[in-house]
Amino acid sequence: MVRYIVEKILDNLYLLRVNDRVKFFEALWDIPEGITYNAYLLISKDGVVLFDGWKDEYAEDLLDAIRTISDPNDIKYIVVHHVEQDHSGSIQRVLEANSGIAEVLCHPLAVKMLQSLYTASFKFKIVKDGEEFSLGDRTLKFIYTPWLHWPETIVSYIVEDGVLLSCDAFGGFSIPSTVFDDEEDITNYLKYVRKYIVNVIGYYSDYILKALDKIRGIGVSPKIITPAHGIIFRKNPEIIVDYYERVARGLSERGKITVIYNSMYGSVEKAIHHAIGELEKRGFKPVTFKFTDSERPAIGDILSEIIDSEALVIGVSVYENDLFPYVSYLLELMARKIRVGKPILLISSYGWSKVASSKVSDKLARTYFKIVESIEFQGQPDMEDLEKISEGVIRLLEAINQG
Ligand code: FEO
Repeated sequence: MVRYIVEKILDNLYLLRVNDRVKFFEALWDIPEGITYNAYLLISKDGVVLFDGWKDEYAEDLLDAIRTISDPNDIKYIVVHHVEQDHSGSIQRVLEANSGIAEVLCHPLAVKMLQSLYTASFKFKIVKDGEEFSLGDRTLKFIYTPWLHWPETIVSYIVEDGVLLSCDAFGGFSIPSTVFDDEEDITNYLKYVRKYIVNVIGYYSDYILKALDKIRGIGVSPKIITPAHGIIFRKNPEIIVDYYERVARGLSERGKITVIYNSMYGSVEKAIHHAIGELEKRGFKPVTFKFTDSERPAIGDILSEIIDSEALVIGVSVYENDLFPYVSYLLELMARKIRVGKPILLISSYGWSKVASSKVSDKLARTYFKIVESIEFQGQPDMEDLEKISEGVIRLLEAINQG
């Protein structure tokens, strides 16, 4: 069964895309929406250039896809923008099929990493930041973009065509039904872009902003952006650049509050329902995730909603003198992946020990999150606790207004 797409982007440039229904990307992120790996093939006067590749399990498919355009033996250069194996996993097989002819163009930091992962006899050609590499009728300009998503990451710009081959940057999760941004309304796709940014490169948000400044600063204004995951932008490349900037800055959507809670026997849920009612009464739009005996949301989806929320309401029960484990795990990932501040209303039910407030504070200690109010009650919330929650919601909304 053919799982890949070969699509002409320009007369000399082709997309090679495989759709991966992997359950847990990086063995971590729950992605029922799937992901694509996009490699690209450029036919230049000086020879064929392959940009990146696919996961190793799709290596034979990649060779088949390449053969629809060119003999693998004609590949003169392989550009490795980023060594992570979702892109480099196929390089061993491609080099074998290519009789090892191709030179591997990459950042110096990529060399040892590639040698540690594969046994191929690489012919490396190190490229420098800002270097222009002539292919006869085309020029590649290499731009060093560290931590997008590893320290060795580069992007390439085809000067004559205005194409930015951006690897992980400007990519997104999901298996879009189309290849280009002009073939469908991309509004729905952007939520998978947001999830991808926060889950995969959120820890390096500052580097997204630095890379954007750098690319703009050297006057690169791409007509086409060809990322290694998801949709190609040719109708309006500014949309994806602006969206990346927005997510990296953690800008909020007006009125959006993410509510996350666990409830083992309904006590926390009763308190949270009260808080949700207070928010809705004031025109706010809670996006709710709950860990109960019937629901267990994906942590990656929660992180994605947090990034553009104005504030959070977190409800947690005490479990073995600590936080309920899934909420505890979520807080750890919030601390790592969300690099901007959001005010929090914390609501907790305890049985024997009142520990939630200090435990959550500890988890978020070195972050920009701010607990504006913490309400803890034993067992079920009584009328007095619900009153406190109403007041807590007001303080949370005041914190939003204070920015
Ligand atoms: Fe798509 Fe960081 O690899």
